[in-house]
Amino acid sequence: MTDSRQEKRILVVHGPNLNMLGKREPAHYGSRTLDDINQSLSAKATELGLQVSTFQSNHEGEIVDAIQQAVGQIQGLIINPAAYTHTSVAIRDAVLLLDVPTIEVHLSNIHKRESFRHRSFIADIATAQISGLGAPGYLFALEALAQRIA
Ligand code: DQA
Repeated sequence: MTDSRQEKRILVVHGPNLNMLGKREPAHYGSRTLDDINQSLSAKATELGLQVSTFQSNHEGEIVDAIQQAVGQIQGLIINPAAYTHTSVAIRDAVLLLDVPTIEVHLSNIHKRESFRHRSFIADIATAQISGLGAPGYLFALEALAQRIA
């Protein structure tokens, strides 16, 4: 028997400076590297019967391109747009193109930090926001999407 969840594809997008995780402001972002987080996501995806692909870029246009390429190809999106969370109408518009359940993830709690981080251009178009739970936040997002699109 085919497990229908096998066909569900999730894209995980990591924004600028997240390639520096592990070295970058550990008090805010923890000590785990991006590779480590991506490996945990792959392991959890296998458990949940989902296919996950991950993408990181420091460039806004490349993130827009990656999201556009996913149109019609994925059933759910996890995105940490990092600093672009607070600035990017272009990434917001690209996410709207996808029209799939979307979880916005932040390692730190953006609402407890500087006021310019409180605004998110993604929050009101996302299914949910997970902010402040560190690296496990990505795994919670994957579990939530698995339930949502089951
Ligand atoms: C972040 C929070 C953003 O404000 C910041 O610019 C980041 C990371 C987080 O995961 O906590 O780069 O998205």
